[in-house]
Amino acid sequence: NDRVFTLHKGVEIPDIGFGTWQIPNEEAYAAVTTALENGYTHIDTALAYQNEENVGKAIQDFNISREKVFITSKLPAQIKGYDVTLEAFGETISNLGVDYLDLYLIHAPWPWDDIGKDCTEGNIESWKAMEKLYKEGKIRAIGVSNFAEKDIQALIDACEIVPMANQIPFYIGRDQASLLQFCRQHHIVVEAYSPLATGQILNNAEIKEMAAKYDVTPAQLCIRYCLEHGTLPLPKSTNKERILENSQLDFTISPEDVQKLDAFEDIRAK
Ligand code: A2P
Repeated sequence: NDRVFTLHKGVEIPDIGFGTWQIPNEEAYAAVTTALENGYTHIDTALAYQNEENVGKAIQDFNISREKVFITSKLPAQIKGYDVTLEAFGETISNLGVDYLDLYLIHAPWPWDDIGKDCTEGNIESWKAMEKLYKEGKIRAIGVSNFAEKDIQALIDACEIVPMANQIPFYIGRDQASLLQFCRQHHIVVEAYSPLATGQILNNAEIKEMAAKYDVTPAQLCIRYCLEHGTLPLPKSTNKERILENSQLDFTISPEDVQKLDAFEDIRAK
């Protein structure tokens, strides 16, 4: 698969990425190696995942040149400010053993232990540090994650570079229509994490039935659904067969069926 999305300053990003959230460092080497063996060229990690070291090692040990792999990492959500962002970035590239990143994201607009806190000023300072790293060529593209419209708007108003990507939870039943539209207007590529609703959606009878109709697995239907919405899915697995399965998406879902899936209830909303 060599399909790509093009970010708004021209950098190409492979249209499926291998997600590594919840893959412990001990398992990350094998998982990323398997992903690379199965044709993934886009790996998504974060300092907070505590697996950058073995993600990086797997990429280095694999017989692939650095520029053929797209590597994303993230600034920890609680780190807000200019100097601390430069420091955290240094830690990430040292963990990964690389000298540049393809994409660096602010992990969230607020710390995970204080969701919703207004950190606008801190986000702006972090963003300015990321703009500097971008201009120096240490990061090929910069973006955000878990940002709502107002969080993105604050950066657009105060800074020079519009975020190139926003990585958000998106899966069948998760209504993100208005954020998707906002991002489209600003040419921000939306990356979908938890495209399988962390696995919770795969036993749903209607999903199973529709997947059978297309002769694909429920996971493939879920991942394809993200592509049908113009988002970039980041499925995660530690299992060889499932890693391969998740990258085989050579089918399309009819607009009527996409609509049916849009109407699903959010399985993860309590
Ligand atoms: P495993 O790692 O054992 O394959 P998400 O990407 O939404 O976060 O979902 C990840 C979860 O879904 C993990 O528990 C993963 O388990 C499971 N999973 C990933 N791919 C598949 C698949 N093709 N079929 C079934 N379960 C899957």
